[in-house]
Amino acid sequence: MSNADQRPIILTGDRPTGQLHLGHFVGSLRSRVGLQDSHHQHLLLADAQALTDNADNPDKVRNNILQVALDYLAVGIDPTKTTICVQSCLPALNELTMLYLNFVTVARLERNPTIKSEIQMRGFERDIPAGFLCYPVAQAADITAFKATVVPVGEDQIPMIEQTNEVVRRVNRQIGHDLLPECKALLSNMGRLPGFDGKAKMSKSLGNTIVLNASDKDIKKAVNAMYTDPNHLRIEDPGQVEGNIVFTYLDAFDPNKEEVEELKAHYRRGGLGDGTVKKRLEGVLKELITPIRERRAELEKDPDYIMDVLKQGTEKCRNITQQTLDRKSTRLNSSHLVISYAVFCLKKK
Ligand code: TRP
Repeated sequence: MSNADQRPIILTGDRPTGQLHLGHFVGSLRSRVGLQDSHHQHLLLADAQALTDNADNPDKVRNNILQVALDYLAVGIDPTKTTICVQSCLPALNELTMLYLNFVTVARLERNPTIKSEIQMRGFERDIPAGFLCYPVAQAADITAFKATVVPVGEDQIPMIEQTNEVVRRVNRQIGHDLLPECKALLSNMGRLPGFDGKAKMSKSLGNTIVLNASDKDIKKAVNAMYTDPNHLRIEDPGQVEGNIVFTYLDAFDPNKEEVEELKAHYRRGGLGDGTVKKRLEGVLKELITPIRERRAELEKDPDYIMDVLKQGTEKCRNITQQTLDRKSTRLNSSHLVISYAVFCLKKK
């Protein structure tokens, strides 16, 4: 990393467990594309984290690394501006995780609301993989190894940012100076995109996603199945916009905000049919997705290129993360995080 580069550092990433979808796009993918000039941005393909609840199916994780990388490039992540790397190939992250685990209690991990709901959703009950329970600590290692201050993520990741900052403060207190920076979550102003069935979350396991390379047919099918206002039975009836998923999607994707507001007013007054609104949304989604799908299909023909991008990005990130944790450092007040407890103790004197 060049010292001349004063841009804020971003680290964010995704678990490679499936293709990304419009929920990811609205949650943070779209903003990442916009941030790559003003920020020093790194994207992590979090395969090690994905393994914490997919240990019985490593092939799923392995195969999806390339799929998510394709999604990144297809939406406009430019590898000459953003570094894309593979988490499991960055050994410094594991060493930092081992250190940080001593600064976090099991009770604190069990209180993490995202972890709580994920444990419930996955039906782990008492059989929680230890790696899964501890992944917020590993995520703190990810973020701090890059000295990232900005983390563009969806709302569900806020507890991870909070835990990261707790670790940061704990380490800085121990070391006696602000070696690690605190970070903040960068949320999209849209909040979470519901599934097309109206369920609160778009998720592959619920079968309510629209993937980033959806075909025209898939788009049409999803839009037609969209939940609207169940009481809006005849076109001339006044309709409800709140909780009407078609309007939620228009708010998220239609570039013409003014026209959307007019449509809403018309729908509320009555006289505007669901079919008309859905037709418009179908057009908007096709316009968004078609170039992404075409670019992805092009990129898919050249897996060697994608592998090159990942290799080069990972090599760069290996250096960055290793520098944060330089065990060979002998200077006690160096800017490196020295892992040895003996050194922590020495520094105190
Ligand atoms: N937990 C994130 C998710 O499920 C993925 C992730 C791993 C991440 N490491 C990260 C996000 C570091 C931001 C920063 O989407």
